[in-house]
Amino acid sequence: MSSHTAEPAAQAQGVRVFPPDFVWGTATAAYQIEGAANEDGRTPSIWDTYSRTPGKVRNGDTGDIACDHYHLWRDDLAIMSELGVGAYRFSVSWPRVQPGGSGPASAKGLDFYSRLVDGLLERGIRPVATLYHWDLPQELEDAGGWPERATAERFAEYASLVAGALGDRVKTWTTLNEPWCSAFLGYSSGVHAPGRTDQAAALRAVHHLNLAHGLGTQALRAVLPADAQTSVTLNLHHVRSLTDNPEDLDAARRIDGVANRVFTGPMLRGEYPEDVLRDTAHLTDWSFVREGDTEAIHQPIDFLGVNYYSPTLVSAASGPGSHGDDGHGVSEHSPWPGADDVAFHSTPGPRTAMGWTVDPDGMYELLCRVRDDFPGTPVMITENGAAFDDYVNPEGRVVDPERISYLHGHLSAVHRAVQDGADVRGYFLWSLLDNFEWGYGYSKRFGAVYVDYATRRRIPKESARWYAGVVRDNAVPP
Ligand code: NOJ
Repeated sequence: MSSHTAEPAAQAQGVRVFPPDFVWGTATAAYQIEGAANEDGRTPSIWDTYSRTPGKVRNGDTGDIACDHYHLWRDDLAIMSELGVGAYRFSVSWPRVQPGGSGPASAKGLDFYSRLVDGLLERGIRPVATLYHWDLPQELEDAGGWPERATAERFAEYASLVAGALGDRVKTWTTLNEPWCSAFLGYSSGVHAPGRTDQAAALRAVHHLNLAHGLGTQALRAVLPADAQTSVTLNLHHVRSLTDNPEDLDAARRIDGVANRVFTGPMLRGEYPEDVLRDTAHLTDWSFVREGDTEAIHQPIDFLGVNYYSPTLVSAASGPGSHGDDGHGVSEHSPWPGADDVAFHSTPGPRTAMGWTVDPDGMYELLCRVRDDFPGTPVMITENGAAFDDYVNPEGRVVDPERISYLHGHLSAVHRAVQDGADVRGYFLWSLLDNFEWGYGYSKRFGAVYVDYATRRRIPKESARWYAGVVRDNAVPP
């Protein structure tokens, strides 16, 4: 039966059928899975330095070996084939392909990604490459890192070098992954590398990450064929106010400003929001924004990548706020410049192993907001998924009904948003494999596939089989 005739009947039975060209994928990131930290000329990134600093990452875990994907990538490709996914979102490790972050490329580093891309294409899987998923070459941090303009310029050179090597085969590109985390967790609360705690530096980092996106997109366009697509991935926060009181609504506005609009403003509208500049004026005068910068940042993109996990509930606080509750790692320093007096609340409902509330309506509402705020901008869900305390049972299986339920709820929410006019083109499950969950090390398992870190064995979880069914049917079951 063709999907054409199947569709209305299936919908009637509660099956949610997606549009015919909908892209189904899985996602990973270099530092979280590759390992081989010292091989083939790769130099340290800020995450090598940070994770090797005692007390920074849970259990002292590092990405030195991780899932050993650098050596086991063929096995991982085979798993993707079994899942049947049409696309794979991976990231390129900057210090692997351009050791030290400037100067010539590493042929061996580029070869790794070239082989990976060829392997994907042979299997009919579309490669989706992210250029920056947080592994800044340590040398660039030593020279000042993202608070410095030069880092954005280096990023554009790196973008051009990678596009030159892979652009004949990779047609879908993302400049940055979640610059909010790079700026605010990296330079303000310090729970991510490089672990600095300086709110003014974090705001400088925001601008130079935005600029890196703009200059990087221009560099990609200069090298890539006309049919290539460029994008950026943001972890847009779905911010709700605890009450309708003006103080609480204002807290929500301020968090929305530094969580979302400080990125979407320049990237999608060509300007920084006035209220964000005002809210942060006691920290910086933003004089590092030079003439022409916002135009440079405001580049046409082919789609917006959105990562969603859980909503954010806030209110005004009478005293100092409770940013420690916001689910990114506890620090005495807030990741929210200009919003020190905002309290974060947990929302009702079941939680994942990260403590994040399972709230599919938040995803629906967020996608509707993007539809309304940025008409004409297609969206890819570049990440969605959940960590649970998975284990291998005596029969050798990993049974994870909570993850299936999480995915069912969120995919149903995506479907509802599409029905209601949100232009969502695809969905990437985070993650293909259990992996290095940043400050939480290997203690949090987000994979559709379980990784036994002692043996590096991969065991697809029940949810992997469930997701394979969704991909096969292009539909979510009732
Ligand atoms: C977003 C990040 O891009 C990814 O690296 C991380 O593992 C997931 N969220 C889960 O926290």
